[in-house]
Amino acid sequence: MSEDDSVLTRRHLAYIAERTRGDDDFLADLKAAAEKLDIPRIWISPAQASFMQIILKLHGAKSVIEVGTLAGYSAIQMARALPADGRVRTIELEDKHADFAEEWIAKSDVAGKVEVLRGAGVDVLPKLEPGSADACFLDADKANYPKYLDECLRILPVGGLIMADNALGFGRLLTAPEDDAGVGAVRRFNDYMAGNPRVHGVITPIGDGCWVGVKEA
Ligand code: DHB
Ligand code: MG
Repeated sequence: MSEDDSVLTRRHLAYIAERTRGDDDFLADLKAAAEKLDIPRIWISPAQASFMQIILKLHGAKSVIEVGTLAGYSAIQMARALPADGRVRTIELEDKHADFAEEWIAKSDVAGKVEVLRGAGVDVLPKLEPGSADACFLDADKANYPKYLDECLRILPVGGLIMADNALGFGRLLTAPEDDAGVGAVRRFNDYMAGNPRVHGVITPIGDGCWVGVKEA
């Protein structure tokens, strides 16, 4: 395939989704309950969850830091990819989201493996010890992604796994006006990743674009 041959359409994405592990009843119930509380439906897709689970398993990840818990869907999915003594620490600014996520994590199959840390990523991440995680997933306010990356590079060992959501700018990466704040923040982060000598990363076109990278230095 040459670079002129990309053919992905919505029908291809549906085809892929139909051949990827979907949500179990528990996760479907979590999403329905979140919607009732008007928690925004911006969780990762089941296909992206599978992708991240596979990457975490291949990495042998034991301790994940997530920035942006929302309803807890991705934290639960990531925890399922970890060994029995693995853990996810997930950082959430909004009490409403943290309350919901804690409630659903507590009744999930990974209760005890996921801890919600309340507060802003820029305040909580600096309190985490270097070497205390081997993977991270950034999925919070896009303007602060560069700061989250810098903190995660402080915490992760060389070889650590970096993942970040929404690299394709909510589907508007190449079409949003120059002054679009949200997409602008994504563009700045993408350039920061691409030019970062400490990270070997690639944007994978799954979901809304998922950065996958390795800390090299
Ligand atoms: C938004 C944020 C996300 O992390 C996402 O996956 C989709 C949308 C948003 O802020 O609109
Ligand atoms: Mg996201």
